[in-house]
Formats: sequence, structure tokens, C-alpha cells
Amino acid sequence: MATVGTTATTSIDPVPEIAALCREYHLWLHVDAAYGGAMAVVPEWRGVLAGAELADSLVVNPHKWLFTQLDCSVLYTSRPELLKRAFSLVPDYLATPEAGRESGFGARNLMDYGVSLGRRMRALKLWFVLRHYGSEGLAERIRQHVRMAHWLRGRIRITPGWELSAPVPMATVCFRHLPAGVRDEAQLAAHNREIMARVNQGGEAFISHAVLGERLVLRAAVGNIRTRPEDVAALWGALQWAAGLLP
Ligand SMILES: Cc1ncc(COP(=O)(O)O)c(C=O)c1O
Repeated sequence: MATVGTTATTSIDPVPEIAALCREYHLWLHVDAAYGGAMAVVPEWRGVLAGAELADSLVVNPHKWLFTQLDCSVLYTSRPELLKRAFSLVPDYLATPEAGRESGFGARNLMDYGVSLGRRMRALKLWFVLRHYGSEGLAERIRQHVRMAHWLRGRIRITPGWELSAPVPMATVCFRHLPAGVRDEAQLAAHNREIMARVNQGGEAFISHAVLGERLVLRAAVGNIRTRPEDVAALWGALQWAAGLLP
């Protein structure tokens, strides 16, 4: 399983190389682009999914960064017949004359491709999002989100006492505050947890955290359709206040 946009830092696995290994050893390759797949909506960033065309399956979650209400995960597979062989179990009362026809008017029953039989029509809300914004409208919003995340990255980079803790390939920024003279990891973790609690209690912005090796880092993800540059600026102000830098 290769990930395009890992949960903690949004790092990107080398999918083409992993795909070559999977081919050599006859392994099923699943690409988890639950978060990062949205970047590929932007024409100039399509390369983020390079190698995914070699995968056996790929998941993108529009409920993460494509402005669709929970829950909506999209599964693509180049081998639907295998999925069907694993899941299909058709009792007589569900057999239809349309199912099973090789071509023509054969119906594709989604019950044959997963565990659940009864299911909501999740595709409809995604269809509305796609129709409402259009591909260029979605791409522009993703671009803006990346721009806002890069603005925050820039602030963190140039402000003494703050550390940018990971590269920012998407719209999630990992960082932490390093108070002067404190280098003990446990103390730094407690200090940064306190910053997170203060910011979140403020109710204006909500940040989360991750543990990278020994380091507890804070995470700010720009992903809501309503987030504007001034919201990210307000978050930066709240972070500095919480870190004790502002009155
Ligand atoms: C990379 C990645 N894959 C998968 C998931 C799981 O998402 P869900 O349970 O919403 O499908 C997450 C959630 O954070 C994620 O970041």
C-alpha cells in the first residue's frame, strides 16, 4: 500500500517504484490518496498521482478535501472482476435478469463490490459538488488552499522560536514552538500541547497534532471551502498568542 498524502505530514510515497516492485512480486498495489488525491484536480499538479495508473486500486475521499459532506470515499479499481469474485453472494431473491449479462444492458450491482447491501446514494452529493463548482472551480479552490498553507509555512519559517517540522507538499503544515532554552522533548511536547489546547479553546481555529519520531508537532490543515486568507492570518495570531509571544 502506497500513500499519496500521509495522514500526519501529507508526505508522498514513491508510487512508480513501489508499483514496479509489486509487479515483480505479483502483489496487489493499493494507493491511498484519501487526502492527497484532491490535488490531482489541479491540472498542473496531476503529477501527484504519478504511478497510480499502475495500481490495482486507488481511493480518494472527497469528504477530506473535495468539499463533500461526510461520508464519501471513492474507490477505483482496474480489476473489478476480482473485487466481484470476493464479495458477490447473490441469493435467489436478489437475482435480476439484468445482472450477469456480459454486455448490452447488464446492470452493475454495487452489492457485488463491497460488504453492504443497503447503502446511501453517496455519489449524488459528489455529483452536486462537481456540477456546482466545475473542475476549474475546484482546482482554483485547491490552489488557494495550498497558497494559504504556504503563507503559514512562510510565517513559521521566518519567525524565531518556531520550527517548520516537515515539508508542505499539500495544504497541511506541521510545526512546533521551541521556547528559548528548552530542548527536552517531553517539555516541548507539553508546551506544544498547551498551545494546541489554548488555540482550540479559543474556538476560532482548530489544530491537531502528530508525533514524528520523538517530536510532538502541531498540524494546521487548510481544507474547508470557507477558509479565507484572513482566517489563516488569525490562526497565526492565535498561535503566537498561545505561545506567549503576544500580550
Ligand atoms: C491517508 C489517509 N487514508 C485514509 C484515511 C481514512 O479516512 P476515512 O476513514 O475517512 O476513509 C485517512 C484519514 O485521516 C487518511 O489520512
